[in-house]
Amino acid sequence: MANDLVIILAAGEGKRMKSALPKVLHPICGRPMVDRCIQSAAQLECAQPIVIVGKGRDQVMAHLSGRAQFCIQEEQKGTGHAVMMAKEHLMGHNGYCVILSADMPLLSAQTVGSLAADAKENGYAASVLTSVVQDPTGYGRIVRNPDGTLQRIVEEKDATQEIRAIDEINAGVYCFQSRALLECLENLDCANAQQEYYLTDCLGMLVEKNQKVGTIVAQEEECLGVNNRVQLAQAEQALRSRINRHWMLQGVSILNPEHTYIDEEVQIGQDTVIYPGCTLRGCTEVGANCTLKENTVLEDSVIGENTTITQSIIVKSSVGQGANIGPYAYLRPGTQVGDGCKVGDFVELKKARIGRGTKIPHLTYLGDCRVGENCNIACGVVTANYDGENKFETVLGDECFIGCNVNMVAPVRIGDRAYVAAGSTVTEDVDAGALCIARARQSVKKDWETKYRRGK
Ligand code: UD1
Ligand code: CA
Repeated sequence: MANDLVIILAAGEGKRMKSALPKVLHPICGRPMVDRCIQSAAQLECAQPIVIVGKGRDQVMAHLSGRAQFCIQEEQKGTGHAVMMAKEHLMGHNGYCVILSADMPLLSAQTVGSLAADAKENGYAASVLTSVVQDPTGYGRIVRNPDGTLQRIVEEKDATQEIRAIDEINAGVYCFQSRALLECLENLDCANAQQEYYLTDCLGMLVEKNQKVGTIVAQEEECLGVNNRVQLAQAEQALRSRINRHWMLQGVSILNPEHTYIDEEVQIGQDTVIYPGCTLRGCTEVGANCTLKENTVLEDSVIGENTTITQSIIVKSSVGQGANIGPYAYLRPGTQVGDGCKVGDFVELKKARIGRGTKIPHLTYLGDCRVGENCNIACGVVTANYDGENKFETVLGDECFIGCNVNMVAPVRIGDRAYVAAGSTVTEDVDAGALCIARARQSVKKDWETKYRRGK
């Protein structure tokens, strides 16, 4: 394929999506759908793909920058017109040209590869991917000659009742001899219901010229075109179940695969158990033998093996091995929790480095801080890390004991093995091994209730 071209159609507005975001940038299992197309193109080992961009092109080009070449289609006058924008690449090109639509996120590189290989082996002027589907509504229909060869493709809007009844559809993936394609494109007209230049008409034109045109029939799922949000959800569901199935076959237990959301790039170790409602996003990695209880959300985070996470949210952070997180913990970006730590209910950590074996069992906020190993942070401990303008750091040594309801006003340092009494507001550094009590002394007025309150 080294000499071949790949053109990806991505200039359409995606009107039916009813969205400010260009259609091809809508994510499916965490990645914009155009990325899957670019990935398939990369596997064909052609030159860098040529992406036709138009509506929302600044966003699309910024997203694909460095991964594709671009041709601009100012006005969206149809798929044939879109391919024409790559004329300079097609002119003088002697090989084949693969054309993909950016709105087909389930198409595999293998299928595209076999379409191209078949076209070349048979010397076809063009070949098109088709599929026999349950509901052909909205797709172009494949009209065949009595001998089974392709006659032409008819768009639904131009189709008679009889043609609409055909359940074989045009998937929108083609392999053309570049030279034959260019010739057809130059002769296209827009005398049709949508007044567009249809790429699909090129196939009928080649047939009329007695050129050899082939077809390959693919699985229905691979040919799903995403034009609206119902199809977006269908594509996402199909991809999700592929991903979940993959992990189950790799030794991960997923209690309810219908209700487990794992992005494509996530990695998961063997014997990990995932309860319903969990979402694993971005480049998250979960080690072996972990338990992710209901509704846990992990985003771009790394979790060591043998760790249990219950109903918690972890974003751009890491947790070591054998740790226990949650229920209801919130680890915000830049947090690193060491091996064997406990981070319990309603604990929020932000840019916090927590040393091995430290326990933070409940109701605590630690931000911009470093905590040593084997500390005990009791209930309701707060770092006052922000003065309204700047953030400051709190640093704790190893084996510290911080009592309930302690405020640590940053910048402040607490040495190894130091103790801070419950209710303290720490504003100055505490030496190693010291006890810090920073609260008002208790005073008790004897018999106050009878003497003063009742006025006796
Ligand atoms: C197209 C096919 C139809 C096929 C279906 C498969 C044509 C005329 N019809 O219909 O036979 O069954 O795909 O999903 O080709 N685009 C541009 N510029 C344009 C118009 C479209 O770049 O002027 C791009 C779109 O961004 C999209 C692709 O081409 O990625 C297909 O366009 P779309 O409008 O979705 O075509 P369909 O109506 O789905
Ligand atoms: Ca489409």
